[in-house]
Amino acid sequence: MKIKNICCIGAGYVGGPTMAVIADKCPNIQINVVDINEQRINDWNNYDLKKLPIYEPGLDEIIKRCRGKNLHFSTDVEFNISIADLIFISVNTPTKTQGHGAGQASDLKWVDASARKISQHATGETIVVEKSTLPVKTAETIKNILKVSNKKNKINSLDPKKFYVLSNPEFLAEGTAINDLINPDRVLIGGDEPNAISALCGIYKNWVEESKIITTNLWSSELSKLIANAFLAQRISSINSVTALCEATGANISEVAMAVGSDSRIGNNFLKPGPGFGGSCFKKDILNLVYICKHYGLNEVADYWKGVVNINNWQKKRISQIINEKLFGTIAGKKIGILGFAFKANTNDTRESAAITICKELLIEGAKLSIFDERVSYEQIKSDLKDKEDSILKNTWTFTKDIYEITKNADAIIVLTESEKFKSLDWEVISENMRSPSWLFDTRGIVDIKKAMKNNINVWSVGSGDLIKKNIY
Ligand code: UDX
Ligand code: ADP
Repeated sequence: MKIKNICCIGAGYVGGPTMAVIADKCPNIQINVVDINEQRINDWNNYDLKKLPIYEPGLDEIIKRCRGKNLHFSTDVEFNISIADLIFISVNTPTKTQGHGAGQASDLKWVDASARKISQHATGETIVVEKSTLPVKTAETIKNILKVSNKKNKINSLDPKKFYVLSNPEFLAEGTAINDLINPDRVLIGGDEPNAISALCGIYKNWVEESKIITTNLWSSELSKLIANAFLAQRISSINSVTALCEATGANISEVAMAVGSDSRIGNNFLKPGPGFGGSCFKKDILNLVYICKHYGLNEVADYWKGVVNINNWQKKRISQIINEKLFGTIAGKKIGILGFAFKANTNDTRESAAITICKELLIEGAKLSIFDERVSYEQIKSDLKDKEDSILKNTWTFTKDIYEITKNADAIIVLTESEKFKSLDWEVISENMRSPSWLFDTRGIVDIKKAMKNNINVWSVGSGDLIKKNIY
């Protein structure tokens, strides 16, 4: 099976960068990325590369090289499906908010709609690849939907369409997506049709070593993605649970993480403490896992993984309580500067960002927030802080692209992302700008706290139990 034409349904954080890299590495394949969101497609086609809908380091250069040549963005879903040899499904699969499985199961309505469109408009032999993270056995659903079109074609005496369904989960992390795609630890392909698998392998072989391409059965591939994310999230919850213990005992989390991570069996990645993991995947995937476990009656397993999400929620709550406590038990009317609103540095994505929960808690307590983020827009923050029941959240926060503005007359500043900018702040200026007693809450442990303390700022840094006695008030 020779792949000359690819269609990717969904031009989001996964579909956009992934197709850009495939286009760059496979100049002989035409790639059409389609989306029902017209604005998003217009943004991908924007002449001004600073206005692409997604910020990823290095993405703009690839778009510049490939767009209009072998990479195209379009709203014409049906036509681009009809000419494709291979279709990636990269649509969103958020946690269901209502109905059966609400709060845990993934909402598959966009996958379902995509499969139906493929079933209607595909022609001849088509490989259908699940790219979005999906619950185990979704491939079965897709296969069943695709079968329907064959039945119809047979009834109408037309040539039956042939579909091969593969799972090829994406492991890229936002902020490093382009590098992750170009130098993946592994590419995982699940399926049971050798020709289709080999066609998809052929695409990756253009730039990925063969030894890094792993093939498994469909269900192992689907499950591996959930488990990989659950393991990563589990490490973060583990280290975050230890931050509280460090603060209580006088230990220091970076020393503990270094000592523990030096054991080659454990390794030192994903041991950075923080305000709680965010992003579109971790929470959703673990809840999905919990749902599947319960479905199969594995309640102990479900409880075990649910604990990872519980600790994450607890960490966010714990941090807002500490801020309130340190500011003499009341933050009503006090100005608090927020440094970073995205769920991590180097992205404009705020999905499940710890900043949303922490800012809402502070606003409910009556604080006035001044928010800085270098990549997130005012409109995005406005939509994230919108709360139907809490009209109190309105007009009590402002947004600025000037870091030092947020420190003017502030009682406290809170560092919520690990942006490089926050590592070299001018603490002399900040100290002059702030009201006394001034507080810095570093939820990422990245700030030069010695300099801040030297400038008479009280510091709380996550997991730094050794700091508590040194503050001056
Ligand atoms: C994650 C997985 O890493 C990726 O493989 C998968 O495809 C999608 O989900 P992503 O959510 O984009 O990627 O970013 P990641 O770097 O994993 O960070 C997730 C969250 O964990 C962020 O909020 C980050 O700040 C936090 N984190 C990460 C920590 O708090 N500590 C760490 O040590 C690492
Ligand atoms: P992810 O992080 O998984 O890429 P996003 O929400 O960023 O998720 O992107 C998913 C994209 O899929 C959105 O732009 C959405 O409009 C698009 N989408 C959802 N359903 C369909 C569909 N049936 N046809 C085409 N595009 C779709």
